[in-house]
Amino acid sequence: MENTNEYLFNYRGYNFERALIDIEFLKNIEDFEIRDDDVFIITYPKSGTIWTQQILSLIFYEEHRNGTENIKTIDRVPFLEYNIHHLEYAQRPSPRLFSSHIPYYLAPRGLKSKKAKMLYIYRNPKDVLVSFFHFSNLVSLLEASDTIEHYMETFLDGKVVGSRWFDHIKGWYEHRHDFNILFLSYEEMKKDLRNSVLKLSKFFDKELSEEDVDAVVIQASFEKMKSDARANYDVILSDEIGTRNSDGRFLRKGTVGDWKNHFTVEQSERFDRIFHKNMKDFPLKFIWDLNEE
Ligand code: A3P
Repeated sequence: MENTNEYLFNYRGYNFERALIDIEFLKNIEDFEIRDDDVFIITYPKSGTIWTQQILSLIFYEEHRNGTENIKTIDRVPFLEYNIHHLEYAQRPSPRLFSSHIPYYLAPRGLKSKKAKMLYIYRNPKDVLVSFFHFSNLVSLLEASDTIEHYMETFLDGKVVGSRWFDHIKGWYEHRHDFNILFLSYEEMKKDLRNSVLKLSKFFDKELSEEDVDAVVIQASFEKMKSDARANYDVILSDEIGTRNSDGRFLRKGTVGDWKNHFTVEQSERFDRIFHKNMKDFPLKFIWDLNEE
């Protein structure tokens, strides 16, 4: 264990958010008891976690779909390693839904024996970088950066929560056979949310009627989530985590290709070179812009 800086806590080579992490929990994370019907969303930060939390919560909880229950998404699909509301995980009824940013090598042993179903959501890293840049400038618990140029260096060096993007996705993908895990991209969800919902309900064996699927798609849209206090984390950001700017939102833009509005040509080419060097022969496809399809 080493102290990285005032914002980051490094445990076994991976950076966690210092103020939110429970170190004792982390030390025992591999022994965390997994149930056969647990469900895990795994993401690198800013890849669509909050969106997927909402989608899975809508798929799994009828009361969420039909609006008869008023529970925040974060309490339906809490973060394994950031238990900000101090929920009693062991007392939760099955099926339990969790989200997590952990690297593959810190996964609870039960996941490695394929007990639970897992979903890895990935996003093109240029958009991840831009989203993370804005989020880091918004949230008081993260280190702010003055420019994209500066942030790109920090991001590529892995001096951020989640460490190096390349290591996170490659680690999970290369060890995918140890887990019961489905890979799905943010861009695929953006391109065809309905089809993605169908894919997910099939993977998780949740049979949904056409009407149910419609209800999930409508309530998981960017605009709907932005105005839904249970889904948009506005209160968590303002009252629990703290922001530097009261206008900022977790749901910022929600598009594919926003990096084009932020990167210079030189920065984009530099990023491409580093991407190709690190991701050579990596089989998953990345979508950098929906128009290029
Ligand atoms: P942007 O900053 O590019 O807008 P995470 O939840 O992993 O931190 O990811 C946050 C990113 O997902 C933000 O990206 C946010 O706007 C986007 N997002 C959240 N809900 C979304 C939705 N319903 N549709 C599309 N994007 C969404």
